[in-house]
Amino acid sequence: MLTVEQLESGYGESLVLRGVTLEVRPGQVVCLLGRNGTGKSTLVKSIMGVLKAKAGKISYDGSVLTRKPPGERARSGLGYVPQGREIFGQLTVRENILIGLEASRRRSGDEIPPAAIERFPVLPTMYERRGGDLSGGQQQQLAFARVLAAEPELLILDEPCEGIQPSIVDDIRDVIRSIKSDGRTAILLVEQSLEFVRSVGDYVYILEKGSVAWQGEMEQMNDEVVRRYLTV
Ligand SMILES: Nc1ncnc2c1ncn2[C@@H]1O[C@H](COP(=O)(O)OP(=O)(O)OP(=O)(O)O)[C@@H](O)[C@H]1O
Ligand SMILES: [Mg+2]
Repeated sequence: MLTVEQLESGYGESLVLRGVTLEVRPGQVVCLLGRNGTGKSTLVKSIMGVLKAKAGKISYDGSVLTRKPPGERARSGLGYVPQGREIFGQLTVRENILIGLEASRRRSGDEIPPAAIERFPVLPTMYERRGGDLSGGQQQQLAFARVLAAEPELLILDEPCEGIQPSIVDDIRDVIRSIKSDGRTAILLVEQSLEFVRSVGDYVYILEKGSVAWQGEMEQMNDEVVRRYLTV
């Protein structure tokens, strides 16, 4: 459903991604790993169109996205939770979720769809609170709810567990598993924790210096691979 071919991308003159090829199939949880600074966030930003590709091709469901603006990519079914969450601190929880609905292919409105909040029972109790007043874990749940409001077919998550306490990490794991078992949404997950990745992932790509250094089924990622490409 998503294919990235020979993608080159970077900031200004500097090239970060040096020909990345990757694929996400329907219903799959694909994990993107690699040490700090290897280009994981740059890759997902390029897939979403937040960053323009310098070369290569991104296609989704048969249409080429490489030159399309981010809004159009979102409407074609891509949902994105950026690293650091980036919810709107000044807006209420309700407003934050409704902004996600705007990205939907379906009509926008002022009604929060069940798909957004069914997995986060705590959020409806906080609708009128400002996003910025939520705890880190609650903000992560809000970021999820905002993107799920648009009912994406491919969910791109950039380090959803970063800086979050273990009990909320377990909640996020449950959310990912439940999305996976529904079978309607594929996930591209950037994550540092191997334990987390092993508990949800199907397939792995490991980046090194802006290129894919290793790829394979989750079970094939043995200690040798971990030592070589991930241990710091
Ligand atoms: N806005 C930016 N302007 C210039 N260079 C950037 C920018 N963002 C990232 N970089 C550089 O691009 C390279 C890849 O960064 P990127 O954020 O993609 O890494 P990452 O794999 O996501 O790392 P981390 O695991 O720390 O999140 C790094 O050398 C980084 O310094
Ligand atoms: Mg990153």
